[in-house]
Amino acid sequence: MCGIMGYIGPKDAKEVLIDGLRRLEYRGYDSSGIAVLDGAELRIARAVGKISSLESLLGKEKISGNLGIGHTRWATHGRPSENNAHPHMVNGVAVVHNGIIENYAELKRELISKGSVFRSETDTEVISHLIDSYLSKGEDLFKAVISAIRRLEGAFAIAVVSEKEPDYFIVAKNFSPLIIGVGEGENFVASDIPALLPYTRRIITLSENEIAKISRDKTEIFDIRNGVQIKPEIKTVDMSPSVAEKEGHKHFMHKEIFEIPKVFTDTMLGRIDRENSELLPDELAVRTMDFSRIIIVACGTSYHAGLIGKYYFEQISKIPAEAEFASEFRYRNPVLKKDDLAIFISQSGETADTLGALKDVKELGIPTLAICNVMNSSIARLADNVIYTRAGIEIGVASTKAFIAQTEVLLMLSLFFASRRGTIGEEERKRLINEFSRMPGILKNTLKTESYIKEIAPRFIRSRDFIYLGRGINFPVALEGALKLKEISYIHAEGYAAGEMKHGPIALIDEDVPVLVIANRGSNLKKIISNILEAKSRGGILIGVITKGDEETKRLLDFAIEVDETDEFFQPFVNSLPLQLMAYHIADMKGTDVDQPRNLAKSVTVE
Ligand code: AGP
Repeated sequence: MCGIMGYIGPKDAKEVLIDGLRRLEYRGYDSSGIAVLDGAELRIARAVGKISSLESLLGKEKISGNLGIGHTRWATHGRPSENNAHPHMVNGVAVVHNGIIENYAELKRELISKGSVFRSETDTEVISHLIDSYLSKGEDLFKAVISAIRRLEGAFAIAVVSEKEPDYFIVAKNFSPLIIGVGEGENFVASDIPALLPYTRRIITLSENEIAKISRDKTEIFDIRNGVQIKPEIKTVDMSPSVAEKEGHKHFMHKEIFEIPKVFTDTMLGRIDRENSELLPDELAVRTMDFSRIIIVACGTSYHAGLIGKYYFEQISKIPAEAEFASEFRYRNPVLKKDDLAIFISQSGETADTLGALKDVKELGIPTLAICNVMNSSIARLADNVIYTRAGIEIGVASTKAFIAQTEVLLMLSLFFASRRGTIGEEERKRLINEFSRMPGILKNTLKTESYIKEIAPRFIRSRDFIYLGRGINFPVALEGALKLKEISYIHAEGYAAGEMKHGPIALIDEDVPVLVIANRGSNLKKIISNILEAKSRGGILIGVITKGDEETKRLLDFAIEVDETDEFFQPFVNSLPLQLMAYHIADMKGTDVDQPRNLAKSVTVE
C-alpha cells in the first residue's frame, strides 16, 4: 500500500530516505515526502508523483540532518496531492503512516470540536492531532504516541519524529508491516527488507501491538497494551542488495519472468525426493490431515493460483475444494465446518482482505494454512501452518514468478495429500514427480517464445479489447493472462471458460478483437478447437498457445506460440510464461509504466 522509511545516524538522512523510498516505490507511487530534523527545526518536503518529483524538489530545497522519516503513498483517503502526502505535521511532530484508520471520521469530528484544524483529507492526520492533544496534556512523546494509538481502530504502521526529541524517533505497528534495520551507530526502519539491504542485513521484525523507540545505538521495544519491554530478536537476512536491482533488464517484471525456472527449482528444493519419487513432509505436513473439504481464499493473481489449486485438490487428492475471493468470502457468512481446511494464498502476506478472512476463520477454530512469499508477513505469522513459496522478492506490481511458485506449492500439496490418503497410484505419483524435475528445463525453453512474442506484439498495441479463452485447468490461466494484460497495458481483457463463450461473450468478437486461446494437446483440445472455429467464423484474430508440432491446430490460428508438451497438471506453468511475456511486450511497446502501473500498488493493505 504505502512505504515507510526512517533513519537516525551519522549519514545525511535525506539521502538514506530517498534511496529507501525508491526501493519501496512499488508499494505506492502517487506522492511522497520526507521530514528531516534540520538543526532544531523539522523540515518537510512533499511532492505529487513518483520519488523523482520529490528528488527534484529536494534539489531546490536545502534540507540536511541526521534524523528523518519518509513515505511513498498509494492514496486511500484523499486524492494524490501535496496536502494529502505524508508526513503530516502538527506543532513540530511529524507522522507517516501505512494502513487505514477505520474510526478516523469519528476521531476527526471529536478533534475538530476541540479545536484541531485539519489540512488534509487523510485518515493519517487524525494520528498527528491525537498525539498533539496528548502532548498538550503534558505527556511525553512516547506516552503521547501510545495514548494516541490506543484510540485507533484499523491497520497501521507509523513512524513519528519530533522537533523536541532530537535523539530518537518512534515506530509502532498493528497489522501493517514494519521492520527495523540494525546498524553500527545508526538505525533504520522500513516497510520491507529491500529498502534496508544497502545498509544492513540485521533486522528486527516488529510484531502486532509493538512500539519501538529508536535512537542511534539503541532500539527499545514495548508492548503497546501493557507497556512491558520486549527483548528484540535480531535476524540476519541472507539477501543481496541486487534483489532490488534490475540487473540489466529493462523492468523488474521482465527480470522476474526470467527468474521463473530458478524459482521453480527453489520452491521444490527439499520438498521432493526425486530418487524415491516421494514428497518430503517438511512444512507440507499440515498439522491436521483429518479434513473433508478445502477452502482456498485469496485475491487477484493469488486467487487465480487458488482456482488452479481447486482443480489439483479435486483431481489429484480427490478432496472437495472451493476457491473464493477474500473480499467476498468475509462478508457472506460462509458455512464452514470444523473439519474444513482453509488455505490462504498471498504473495505479500499483507493483503487486507485475505488477512481479514484469515482472522475470521481462525476465530471459528478452523485449521488454517498460509501459502506466502514474504517471510514473517502478517498472514504467514497468523496462520496455523505456513508453506513459503521461494520466489524471492517480487518488485514488479504485476505478479509473475510468485504466481508460478504458488501454483507449484498447490500441486505439491495436492500430491502430498493424495499420497497420504492413498488417492493416487504409485505409477501416477512417480510420473508426476518426474515431471517436476523436467519443469525447470521446459520453463527455460518456454522463455525462448519471447522472440516470436516480440515480433507479434506490435500488432496488438492499438487493440482495445482482448479475449482469453481456456478450459479446465487452463481456464484460470486465461483469467490470469487477461489480468496481466489489463493491469500493465490498460487494454481491456476478459478471461472466459472457452465453453462459456457461446453463451454471450461471442457477441464481442469481430475483426478488431484478438482472441487468445490456450490450446495445448490434451483432454480438452477437441473442444477448444470447436471454440477456435466459432471465434474464427466471427472474424476474430486468433492467437493460440499450442503444443510444439501440432500443425493441425496451428493451421487454424493467425498466430501460434508453441510450447513444449507436458502433463496436463503442469500446463499452467508452461502456458503462463508466454501470456506474461505477451502482456509485458504489448505494455512496453505502448510505453506504459510496466513496473508501476497507474492506480495499483503491490500489496493492498486496505479493504
Ligand atoms: C497481481 O498482478 C496483482 N497486482 C494483484 O492482483 C495481487 O495478486 C493481489 O493484490 C493479491 O496480492 P497478494 O498475493 O500479495 O495477497
